[in-house]
Amino acid sequence: MSIPLPALLSDRLHVWRSSVDERLASYCELQSGCPEVLRDAIRYSLLAPGKRLRPLLVLSAAEACGCDPGEAIPAACAVEMVHAYSLIHDDLPAMDDDDLRRGRPTCHVQYGEAVAILAGDALLAMAFESLATDLPPEVAAECCRLLACAAGPTRLVGGQADDLAAEHDSSEYDLAQLESIHHRKTGALLAASLQLGATIAGAPTEQISRLEAYGLKIGLAFQVVDDLLDLSGDEQVLGKRTGRDSDLGKLTYPRLLGIPESRLLAANLVEQACGELVDFSGPTDTLESIARYILARDR
Ligand code: IPE
Ligand code: IPE
Ligand code: MG
Ligand code: MG
Ligand code: MG
Repeated sequence: MSIPLPALLSDRLHVWRSSVDERLASYCELQSGCPEVLRDAIRYSLLAPGKRLRPLLVLSAAEACGCDPGEAIPAACAVEMVHAYSLIHDDLPAMDDDDLRRGRPTCHVQYGEAVAILAGDALLAMAFESLATDLPPEVAAECCRLLACAAGPTRLVGGQADDLAAEHDSSEYDLAQLESIHHRKTGALLAASLQLGATIAGAPTEQISRLEAYGLKIGLAFQVVDDLLDLSGDEQVLGKRTGRDSDLGKLTYPRLLGIPESRLLAANLVEQACGELVDFSGPTDTLESIARYILARDR
């Protein structure tokens, strides 16, 4: 079910991604209490061909902090579960009302709204179950705290709420408010991915803070590029509809800054992010290649 990753990302990242996909599939082998249609919807969305960017960030951060990335796979899967839940809910008619995701009909189009909402609910709970069950006890609670904070009302969910509130009447919003929305709805989960990998590695506070800063910068760049791709991307390649942000009157970077300024901002953020990759105990080349990929990506 994997989509090819661009050449910019090394063979090692492809291997990591296969390991994550295998573990995600095993987390979806749910016990008999889970109705078949719910299990199908969970598998349909979680195992769909996404980029797996957040899991790769978890593993790359663990490696940069001198740990075997394999130890961070439960956390990599947990972040992807939260991400998959957020996409299912983001696509619902009450939110962005989208019908295409990862090149397929969205979860609610395929399974109906009620099952899609419940599949999202299940994935959110499964994320914390995988952290609590499969991480060493000395880091599990801190990892649960980091992920809960990133997914909660002051970050992902708060950003999503403000994203919806800013629709249509965006005249009263400025760049600082848009940055705050993008940081919370997208940046926080990317930053948490890095913090999880570093925490599992037992990294010192300074390394965790630098990774958080790197994560927030690439997170903002990621959403700026997402806004740009909505304007000029290719629907076939992206696997989701284009032009939706303007249809919905969304507050976006190209809308406030224009296309060239938005591209420049994303490029600057990626450079600044790479500047944070100093004084680590392990290699940081995968983190650098992921940052550059975020800027160059077409999906
Ligand atoms: C899409 O994220 C949602 C945003 C935060 C913009 P991705 O572009 O990482 O989606 P997948 O996982 O590859 O489908
Ligand atoms: C989604 O942002 C952010 C989250 C799902 C938390 P968008 O609404 O821009 O993502 P796409 O464009 O639908 O993937
Ligand atoms: Mg949205
Ligand atoms: Mg959306
Ligand atoms: Mg978007």
